[in-house]
Amino acid sequence: MTDRYAVIGNPIGHSKSPQIHRMFAEQTGEALTYEALLAPLDDFAGTLRGFLVEGLGVNVTVPFKEQAWALVDSHTPAAERAGAVNTIQRLDDGSLLGDNTDGKGLVRDLQHNAGLSLAGLKILLVGAGGAARGVVQPLLAAGPSQLCIVNRTVSKAEELAALFADQGPVSAAGFRWIEEPVDLIINATSASLAGDLPDISPNLIRRGHTWCYDMMYASEATAFNRWAAEQGAARCVDGLGMLVEQAAEAFLLWRGVRPDTASVLKALR
Ligand code: ATR
Repeated sequence: MTDRYAVIGNPIGHSKSPQIHRMFAEQTGEALTYEALLAPLDDFAGTLRGFLVEGLGVNVTVPFKEQAWALVDSHTPAAERAGAVNTIQRLDDGSLLGDNTDGKGLVRDLQHNAGLSLAGLKILLVGAGGAARGVVQPLLAAGPSQLCIVNRTVSKAEELAALFADQGPVSAAGFRWIEEPVDLIINATSASLAGDLPDISPNLIRRGHTWCYDMMYASEATAFNRWAAEQGAARCVDGLGMLVEQAAEAFLLWRGVRPDTASVLKALR
């Protein structure tokens, strides 16, 4: 029987993951199928268990990543503190291993695809929800001089900074507390989904110097990246590369081979 994988979410109709993993499989010669599964909002566990009777692994997307973390039997170090799981592997003994490849995907997209070394940079991470939480540790591992988490609800940024305080120079602040330019701003809020902007100061962007990264992507520039471009950001990058890179990390966990992402990203663009 062919090895089966899937992505589970709600909604799931617009997911690019099946297309990405099929391209990976073709390119590496791995024999597998990859489908998109819609789980009812009140029964992610049932959908997951049903698929993994035969299936070997799943990706998990919004809004089930925290539930996935709670349902698996063990976690990789990356998933342990992230509190969210986006990749599950059924091990030989039938138990479920949860990983989080989002942060690795983000760092790889920034450093490898966009060519921005994060070492020594002043980074502002906007948002303190599940999406932000999944990327703090890999960002700190890349050696920035400072990682400041800002959030509309300041207490959530403070909790997140405290959770990762032993991993590097991480701090927390409110949106308008910071007015000094930084090197890189990463938008991890869900504001873009509604076409909204986080209320951060335009002074954070030094014209022609500061890079901006929106973890969201859309067929057109996101509201955050349009705003950043208007302020003169040196580069505005969306999250499509992160999506492809986190998928490649999942593929590596499952199949032991890391596909080439550049050709897949090019095909998707
Ligand atoms: P996700 O898993 O996508 O991170 P989440 O855990 O619900 O979703 O977190 C959403 C994040 O986006 C939070 O940081 C939220 O800020 P609050 O903690 O203050 O709610 C942020 N967010 C959502 N809409 C926003 C908006 N319009 N302006 C600013 N921040 C917003």
